[in-house]
Amino acid sequence: MNKKNEMLEAFNFVIFGGDGDLAMRKIYPALFCRFVEQQIGGDFNIVVIVREEIAVELLLHKIKKNITEADQKIDFDSEIVTNFISKIRIIVIKNHSVQSYKPLESILQENSEYQDVFYFSTPSSVFVEICDTLREAALVKPTSKVVLEKPLGNSLTSFEKINIQITKTFSESQIYRIDHYLGKETVQNLMVLRFSNQLFEQSWNSEHIDNIQITAAESLGVGSRGAYYDKSGALLDMVQNHLLQLLCLVAMEPPISVEADQMRNEKLKVLQSLRMLNSDSVKINTVRGQYTRGKIDDAKVNSYLEDINEYASNTETFVALKAYVDNWRWKGVPFYLRTGKRLERHYSEIVINFKSVKHNIFDPETTVPNNKLIIRLQPEERISIVQMTKIPGPGGYRYKPTSLKLDYLDSFSERLPEAYERLLIDVLRGNQTLFMREDELRAAWTWIESVTKNWKTTNQPVVLYEAGTLGPRDSVMCNGDLWEVNS
Ligand code: BG6
Repeated sequence: MNKKNEMLEAFNFVIFGGDGDLAMRKIYPALFCRFVEQQIGGDFNIVVIVREEIAVELLLHKIKKNITEADQKIDFDSEIVTNFISKIRIIVIKNHSVQSYKPLESILQENSEYQDVFYFSTPSSVFVEICDTLREAALVKPTSKVVLEKPLGNSLTSFEKINIQITKTFSESQIYRIDHYLGKETVQNLMVLRFSNQLFEQSWNSEHIDNIQITAAESLGVGSRGAYYDKSGALLDMVQNHLLQLLCLVAMEPPISVEADQMRNEKLKVLQSLRMLNSDSVKINTVRGQYTRGKIDDAKVNSYLEDINEYASNTETFVALKAYVDNWRWKGVPFYLRTGKRLERHYSEIVINFKSVKHNIFDPETTVPNNKLIIRLQPEERISIVQMTKIPGPGGYRYKPTSLKLDYLDSFSERLPEAYERLLIDVLRGNQTLFMREDELRAAWTWIESVTKNWKTTNQPVVLYEAGTLGPRDSVMCNGDLWEVNS
């Protein structure tokens, strides 16, 4: 059971897009933390692929800065940093041809017995070229693996095109389609919470649950990613992947085991049960928003248009949707999905709103407020149960909602590993449980297109909202409330 720090076999870790934002912020720090914790040892190489001639020292300095500043809770000395940096090899590949992959080939041949992981941290539009060149250059072995960053395409058709080409080079068992939300500790805890506690499972259905709310709110804007973001928007950037995966974990049936295909079979059924939207329901059940100037933590922030340096854009930076999972367990229970940038606060949370008790014995004319199970994914990871409690003192039965809280950090003092640490180790170990299978993505894209296509045909507008607020007022969709803010 405890595979925590089991040392991994030797590997070459090849990162295309190795000087990019994701590699700097997430991939190198994750590998470094696993190195410090001695899960990856002496026998490995990190091969950094960049497109432009670059000063090697400068790039190494940038990597060093990122790995040493990423996590204050990890304990290391300068020798560890030097050892880690010594594993890095940098190659410039300006175009994708067998000839230009020669330097990569020589590095891989130096340690041909190592397993090779190719990490595509580039826009998905170049995945096919990279794949084809790796195949033509005969660099793909049966033990090789490929990690694909999201978004995989920008529509069902583009996903299919990329997928068909990639599967010409790699078999499904070699492909790791990453969604970093699945690597978050609290997201994995959802599985344990649901399937190791009899307490919840009994009432996890439409008989007992009124609605479910899944929120990923961010206070940051689009930063330097405007060019990418303006083509995708909140729906494709967050809902198509992260929020739908959360919905799957909340709604899925118990899998037989946590073996990859067992889990993925159950998630797939949820995605296939999502009710498609049409031109009528899209107007009632979805809201698109875009931030204007505002204030966050007392600091003035720019509008979306200023952030992306454009005069006009119809891209949504906020989206709220009311979705239904039409199956035996969930028929009629709305799932509210919300995400946005430049909102008041940064937090991700799942709220399970139970139904109220059928009859209020203390005051038959009124309804008792409902119980809630609140799963705070980040920050301040915790689980709370909101229950009715008697207000102490004489004067009859007066009650109010109070929270029972289990703060993760109170029970687990160890540092929580970053999502990418877990996921990269799973790739090296060959465990695909937390990665998406092609049919899952196909089902997710099919549902998402029922939204995008109907937005297009109905010309669904983006509603402006002030930065630093809860998003557009139009997203009044849950029992007449603006969205629910619990903690
Ligand atoms: C990424 C999105 O996948 O997830 C970003 O592209 C978003 O736009 C990020 O900011 C949110 O991740 P986290 O882990 O900070 O919630």
